[in-house]
Amino acid sequence: MRSSAFMGTEGDALEGPKRGKETAVVNRNLQERLVRGLNLNLANMTSLATAYKQAHWNLQGSGFAQLHELFDQFADQTREYADLVAERAVQLHGTSHGTIEGAVKETTLPAFPLDEHREDLLLKALTDRAGVAISEIRRGIDGSEEDLPTQDVYIEIARGLEKQEWMLRSHLTG
Ligand SMILES: [Fe+2]
Repeated sequence: MRSSAFMGTEGDALEGPKRGKETAVVNRNLQERLVRGLNLNLANMTSLATAYKQAHWNLQGSGFAQLHELFDQFADQTREYADLVAERAVQLHGTSHGTIEGAVKETTLPAFPLDEHREDLLLKALTDRAGVAISEIRRGIDGSEEDLPTQDVYIEIARGLEKQEWMLRSHLTG
């Protein structure tokens, strides 16, 4: 369902100044760089989402009821962010590397502890990893100034992850 305004915009873009191949090459370079960054962040979102689930399942402590629920919400939210960056990569004519194996290869998050149950240590591990994920997303914001729709995806994710990190931190100090 395209509005006439959308058609008009698209038409203008297609019939715009004939900048020739140079622009196409620059755009392709930019697209490839953006796709690489999106895949790195896809790996981080996949890793972080599984970390939230791991904590959701293994958590033990007085804050169980609340944190069990909170970690599940954050896992769902982070999977949505994985979806956003993965789909943006494909919109830019790239390929999304969305498997667990792809995530292991490309993530910048440290491996999450497999046998931890204590809520304070799980909270600390999640807070640290959310912090690393935020740094990469912010790098994505800085690196996508030439492509505002991609930057918009990164900004949305930064807002959500920083809220997660704040809530995790608040439980840690509380
Ligand atoms: Fe569950």
